[in-house]
Amino acid sequence: MSRKRVAIIGASGLVGQRFCQLLSNHPFFDEPDLFAWERSGNRKLEEILRVPSNTISDSLLEKHITLMDAGRINSGKYDAIFSAIPSSTDNNIELELLKSGNRIFTNSSTNRMLDTVPIVVPEINSEHMEMFRDQKGYIIANGNCSTIGLAIPLKPLLPLEPEHIEVTTMQALSGAGYPGVPSLDAVSNMVPFIESEEEKIQRELPKVLGALNGNKITPRNIDMGVTCTRIPVREGHTEAISVRFSRNIENEDISGLLSGFRAYPQANRLPSAPSQPIIVSGSEYRPQPELDLWNGTPERARGMAVTVGRIRKTGKYLRFVTLSHNTVRGAAGASVLNAEIAHSRGLL
Ligand SMILES: NC(=O)c1ccc[n+]([C@@H]2O[C@H](COP(=O)([O-])OP(=O)(O)OC[C@H]3O[C@@H](n4cnc5c(N)ncnc54)[C@H](OP(=O)(O)O)[C@@H]3O)[C@@H](O)[C@H]2O)c1
Repeated sequence: MSRKRVAIIGASGLVGQRFCQLLSNHPFFDEPDLFAWERSGNRKLEEILRVPSNTISDSLLEKHITLMDAGRINSGKYDAIFSAIPSSTDNNIELELLKSGNRIFTNSSTNRMLDTVPIVVPEINSEHMEMFRDQKGYIIANGNCSTIGLAIPLKPLLPLEPEHIEVTTMQALSGAGYPGVPSLDAVSNMVPFIESEEEKIQRELPKVLGALNGNKITPRNIDMGVTCTRIPVREGHTEAISVRFSRNIENEDISGLLSGFRAYPQANRLPSAPSQPIIVSGSEYRPQPELDLWNGTPERARGMAVTVGRIRKTGKYLRFVTLSHNTVRGAAGASVLNAEIAHSRGLL
C-alpha cells in the first residue's frame, strides 16, 4: 500500500494533539502538516503541548504549526485531512476544503448531519463510506464522543431487538476542549447539563445505525431518552445504559455477545484497530476512568477499546455501564481508524 500525505487542522487543541500522537510513525501515513488558528499558529507543537511529549515523535514536536488558511490547502496537496476544529466556526472551513476536492475526516459537528456526510463509527457502519466510491473529495464525520461510546456496545445487541434505550452520561472535562469548563464549576462538582449534547446523541445514533441505500442513508428508528452530565474527571466518558427489549433476555449471553464482537477493522488487521473492541469486566467496581481509560491492544490501539461492566438482566431489561476514551476512541483515534478503513477500501 502506498503511503499517504496528511494534515491536521486544529492541531493545537486537545483532539488535535491526540491526532499528533496517533499519527506519529504511522505505517500508512506520512508525518502530518499542522494547522491551527491565531492562538497557536506559527508556534512549535512542543511549546503548547498538553499530552506527554514521549507519545509524539521528536520531529513532530519540533514542527511549526501553520496559521490556518483553507485557500492555501489546494486540491491534491494532501490525500487526507484530519479535522479537530471547533464545531461552530463562522466560515465553514471543511466545506471550503471539500470544494477543492479534499478528503476530510472530522470531529467537528458542523457538517455531521448533512445528507452528503456519513457519520462512521469504524466497527459499525464503515460500508457507509461506499457512497464516495466514485467521488474525489468527501467528508467522513465521527459521531459525538458519547454517541460513539454508546453505539459500539449497542451494535452486537441489535439482533435482540431493543425497543427503548435510556442513557445517562458522566462526561470528562476534556470533552469541552481546552481550556474548557471553568475550574470553579468543575472542582468537587457535577454539572447536570451539557448544551446541545443530548440532542446530538439522539440525532446521530439513528444515522450511525442506519442503512445505506444507493448513496442515501436511511436512519434506524430508535426510541431513546438521554441525560448528559459533566463530572470532574480529566478524560474518559462513562455512560449508564438501560435497554428494554421486545422479549425476556435473561437467558441471553450478553457478556459473550459483547466481548465476541469483531468487525471490518479487526478482520482487516488495521493498525489502530483494537483486537477486542469491547472489553467486558466482571468486577462490580469497573469500569473506572482511572483503571480502564487506556484499554485496547496492540500498542497503537491503546484507548480504542470500550470497557463494559455492571451487566444486569431483569426480564426484558438490560442495564450496564460503559467507559470510552473521549479524545481517542471518541475523537482522534476514531478518525485515524476511519482513514485506515478508507485506505484499505481503496477510497484514499
Ligand atoms: N474534546 C473531546 O473530547 C472531543 C471529542 C469529540 C469531538 N470533539 C470535537 O473536536 C473538535 C476539537 O475539539 P477540542 O476539544 O480539541 O477543542 P480545542 O481544544 O478547543 O481545540 C480547537 C482547535 O481548533 C483551532 N481553532 C480555533 N478556532 C478556529 C477557527 N476559527 N478555524 C480553524 N481552527 C480553529 C484551535 O487553534 P488555536 O489553538 O490556534 O486556537 C485548536 O487547534 C471540536 O469540534 C469538538 O467538538 C471533541
